[in-house]
Amino acid sequence: MSGTETASASLFTPEFFQDPHSVQAALRAEAPAREVVTPHGHRVWVVSRYAEAKAVLADPTVRKNRASSGAATAPDGAPDLSRHMLSMDPPDHTRLRRLVTRAFTIRRIELMRPRIEEITADLLGRLSPGDKVDLLDVFAFPLPITVISELLGVEQEDRAEFRRYSNALISDSGPEEAQATVSWMAAYFTEMVAAKRADPGEDLLSALIETSEDSDRLSEQELVSMAFLLLVAGHETTVNLIGNGVLALLTAPEQLERLKADLSLLHAAVEELLRFRSPVNMSTFRFTTEPVVLGEVTVPAGSTVLVGLGAANRDDDHCEQAERLDVTRPPSGHLAFGHGIHHCLGAPLARLEGEIAFRSLLTTYPDMRLAMPASDLRWRASVPIHGLVE
Ligand code: HEM
Repeated sequence: MSGTETASASLFTPEFFQDPHSVQAALRAEAPAREVVTPHGHRVWVVSRYAEAKAVLADPTVRKNRASSGAATAPDGAPDLSRHMLSMDPPDHTRLRRLVTRAFTIRRIELMRPRIEEITADLLGRLSPGDKVDLLDVFAFPLPITVISELLGVEQEDRAEFRRYSNALISDSGPEEAQATVSWMAAYFTEMVAAKRADPGEDLLSALIETSEDSDRLSEQELVSMAFLLLVAGHETTVNLIGNGVLALLTAPEQLERLKADLSLLHAAVEELLRFRSPVNMSTFRFTTEPVVLGEVTVPAGSTVLVGLGAANRDDDHCEQAERLDVTRPPSGHLAFGHGIHHCLGAPLARLEGEIAFRSLLTTYPDMRLAMPASDLRWRASVPIHGLVE
């Protein structure tokens, strides 16, 4: 890949989704920020270098909420369940995040450990050596959806339907389907909030209702949006930490062997896998309220900015030989969980699930291998999410 036009013209094409990293390398080499037009005709400034990505995410003049920033353009298919913290700026963000943090504590997550281990063992125990399986289907998807559903209190029988709808949300499926999805989810969570209010349980949603009743009330819409955010953020990402991570290891056999020989590397390896094949790759969106200077480029006020977290994580100015997977690499402050006030609230849970998932897989099925050439695998055509179709 070489040249400006080639790199930006390749963005969001089928070839890009199949192999985003070479296009992102070209974008990084070219400029600190570059204005492109999305397939939906929106103008966005793409930021692909580490230092600039971090600077944008830490800049208080760069906002999450388009309405408060006065920008004219919108990211694709902005959903309506939007009264949640990830779409807010201070002071609303501060208030919502504080309330959730109070209920979604490190202690609550640590208490999940035995249950996550149990779910993992159960899923892997259903397979046998020699089976040819779609690992996403039998493991990478059911683990996080079960964990987040149990945490929130979503019933078992509703989970398959959730997968279908949340897939639709991130697959760029068009405004009608997106709207149908949002309506379904809004109705589902509204009913669930009412049920938990009447009959609270041990789950996170009940805790959120209780927290909000103690002090600063969360409105009905805020509770419903929060549940929606946690469910979608809690599994569309972790599924791809597992899927992308397993693929990365299987296609770098010396790294896989290194890790299997010394599982004390696991903690660092999970961070490296998050860096190397970031599940949230060509995201996140922000809106400028003032001109933002990024190296020799000034992004004007009122612009939409797309921070390429996965691209930034492969910047050689951030870590040496960044295009190489190295499970012994000391964690270097990757941006896979974002940065600044919106840094992933679920990161401790995602890390815990990742560690348990990789440890169990590598010890239960140490000889697992790909059933087809890696080049035959298809990647999802999703702007925010980098993950395999199957
Ligand atoms: C925010 C990635 C797992 C809940 C974020 C952001 C990223 C991210 C990049 C920041 C987005 C932005 O700035 O626009 C990931 C990845 C995960 C993961 C890669 C798994 C490997 C989870 C889990 C949960 C969760 C398991 C919840 C159970 C959230 C929430 C926010 C968030 C609530 C919004 C925080 C805020 O706005 O203050 N995540 N996430 N995430 N994530 Fe995660």
